[in-house]
Amino acid sequence: MATTGEIVAMARAVALARAALGATNPNPAVGAVVLDASGVIAGEGHTHSAGGDHAEIEALAAAGDRTRGGVLVTTLEPCRHHGRTAPCTDAVIAAGIRRVVYAIGDPHDEAGGGAEVLRAAGIEVESDVLAEEALVDLDPWLLATRRRRPHVTWKYAATLDGRTAAADGTSRWITGAEARRDVHRLRAQSDAVLVGIGTVLADDTALTVRDWPTPDSPTRRQPLRVVVDGKARTPLSAAVLDGSARTMIAVGGTADERRVKALASAGAEIVEVPGADGRVDLGALLAALFDRSARLLLVEGGARLAGSFVRERLVDRVVGYHAPALLGAGPPVLADAGIPTIGAAVRLEICDVTQLGNDVRITTEIRGSGR
Ligand SMILES: NC(=O)c1ccc[n+]([C@@H]2O[C@H](COP(=O)([O-])OP(=O)(O)OC[C@H]3O[C@@H](n4cnc5c(N)ncnc54)[C@H](OP(=O)(O)O)[C@@H]3O)[C@@H](O)[C@H]2O)c1
Repeated sequence: MATTGEIVAMARAVALARAALGATNPNPAVGAVVLDASGVIAGEGHTHSAGGDHAEIEALAAAGDRTRGGVLVTTLEPCRHHGRTAPCTDAVIAAGIRRVVYAIGDPHDEAGGGAEVLRAAGIEVESDVLAEEALVDLDPWLLATRRRRPHVTWKYAATLDGRTAAADGTSRWITGAEARRDVHRLRAQSDAVLVGIGTVLADDTALTVRDWPTPDSPTRRQPLRVVVDGKARTPLSAAVLDGSARTMIAVGGTADERRVKALASAGAEIVEVPGADGRVDLGALLAALFDRSARLLLVEGGARLAGSFVRERLVDRVVGYHAPALLGAGPPVLADAGIPTIGAAVRLEICDVTQLGNDVRITTEIRGSGR
């Protein structure tokens, strides 16, 4: 049974993992804490992106000599495989750790099984400590790796009656500063941020993280920007081509070759993923993003693109920012998603409701989206 000190340390490890979200790709955001032999926190760490230290290694290094006879508390089972880094289990054993406490087992064939290796080395091991808390941030990553496509969060901002703009097209700003800042948090915690060409043409959004501290390494300061642009209509002057972050433009099979070349010359990575009617095949695009190590994807609209994502059951989490305002006319938050009758409605589970300034953020999850 985990001690109070170990549970407190796990809560700290969960917080460390959350702070690292968006900075670990393609690794999971993991947090770890080392308690010395007398139960005092001696070191902390979180996972870094590919090739960087895992959380356990950072925490062990920070603890130095105080690892001997100590306890390692970590949100994910220590890995036992040689990937781009050496197995964490080797480091734990070498550090003289007496006991390992973790929240979630590693489901990977290669990396999993670390607990057995540790037990075989005479280390006491306990699992499932604050598992539910750790799973909030780890589950999307685990789902992504299992399904070999990024976990998809669709975010929108709307009036209470579900409009994203007024009838005359004006839309700035539906929600207040706090809600808008929270969107930058979502971006910072994502590996890629995606919009449809309609949104680029209407809003010329830059899709960068500006109003939230970006993760600590320069190579992953900004999420990859992705534009779903079947016919390569992105203007060369678009803010997504401003060079402040990497940009991918997904085109269909009928895009004008000269336009595609011009966009590539402007610095965009072009991915051709032909779908029906010159559109983009979203499933193939997600596979391409996974191959580029994106595990957490934020879809920022607009309505038609979101409709396609919902229609194809590619949305896992929905974050809606609702302003206490009514418009009665204007574009809806979600376009046709192929749902003809109430019995076919996509039902979501409420995970969180939070007031941000004068707006309300509601976070829901679609259970059973290929889990
Ligand atoms: N309030 C909010 O949260 C929010 C967020 C974002 C946008 N918006 C608003 O939404 C409006 C834009 O929305 P929108 O619906 O016009 O455009 P959109 O959803 O941003 O983009 C739709 C376009 O994407 C392209 N596309 C390619 N493959 C597709 C696929 N598989 N499924 C769907 N679309 C695909 C199509 O153009 P091609 O055929 O040319 O490829 C399609 O017309 C703007 O007014 C913007 O201000 C609001």
